Amino acid sequence: MTKRVILITGASSGMGYASTQLFAKHGWEVYAGARRVEKIPTGEGIHPLYLDVTDADSRLQFVKEALADGLRVDVLLNNAGYGEFGPLEEVGVEKVHKQLETNLVGASELTKLVLPQMRQQGFGRIVNNSSIGGDVYSPLGGWYYVTKRGLNVWSDVLDTEIRQFGLRSVIVAPGGTESSWLDIAMNNALSNLKPDSPYTPLTEGTKKLLGGMLNTSEATSADLAKVFYRAATERHPKRRYYFGLADRMLSRLARNHPGVYHEGMSLIVSRLTRNK
Ligand SMILES: NC(=O)c1ccc[n+]([C@@H]2O[C@H](COP(=O)([O-])OP(=O)(O)OC[C@H]3O[C@@H](n4cnc5c(N)ncnc54)[C@H](OP(=O)(O)O)[C@@H]3O)[C@@H](O)[C@H]2O)c1
Repeated sequence: MTKRVILITGASSGMGYASTQLFAKHGWEVYAGARRVEKIPTGEGIHPLYLDVTDADSRLQFVKEALADGLRVDVLLNNAGYGEFGPLEEVGVEKVHKQLETNLVGASELTKLVLPQMRQQGFGRIVNNSSIGGDVYSPLGGWYYVTKRGLNVWSDVLDTEIRQFGLRSVIVAPGGTESSWLDIAMNNALSNLKPDSPYTPLTEGTKKLLGGMLNTSEATSADLAKVFYRAATERHPKRRYYFGLADRMLSRLARNHPGVYHEGMSLIVSRLTRNK
């Protein structure tokens, strides 16, 4: 039987790393990309490749190398991403561009590179790692949440455009999941603060809030890899996939009752910054 083929971005850590291992374990050919290529897992069926999703040449080379093997492409998993956290007043515009380029434009441009092959085959799926942050939000993650909400809309529109060819685009929306994500987001929040910033107490408070939320979550990257596997292989895929009920309910609350969510978050934030 012909082996199924997946391209995974951000395969050097967290959910991308775990997904690379899981798909390979299920017998797929996995073209796994990241900048730290040496950190991508190795093993049968895994092809570690250098990839910077913000770089057009690198994206092209990544897809070319995967397609050069003459195989089909069943799935593109747009997973690479990070949180450019920091107060909106203080995050520099180059960082804003980097955030949009990594989490949103990179995914879109890579998708454009695989769609012709998928269209020719008459099957294929784009699985996008978004976040419950496509619906919910906290202070400091403004541009991150913009990218995730944007990815949700982009995926929905794409899905309406490519279904006619037998292709689908779906969203997986993880909540707090064990990986390097929080450390990177919080380091960015600190490095984006200006000296003597009035947002220092808010930054400390938000770090506690997000750290606490992540600690109460039981999801591991390996758990999310299983959700990606479902999203990639279910015969009739859903528009949205969640790890668990809590993530689904929180997203639904924020979507259906945005005022309630907003006031609730504002109350939490006022407590976080009180007496600082
Ligand atoms: N962990 C959570 O709580 C959580 C919740 C919801 C959504 N997410 C989303 O899940 C995705 C995966 O994150 P994670 O939690 O697994 O975090 P992670 O452990 O930090 O992994 C992030 C991956 O993205 C890659 N990456 C970052 N910038 C890249 C670039 N320019 N080009 C190529 N690869 C790049 C990194 O590889 P290199 O640095 O080696 O390039 C790394 O492999 C992200 O989109 C994140 O927003 C995470």
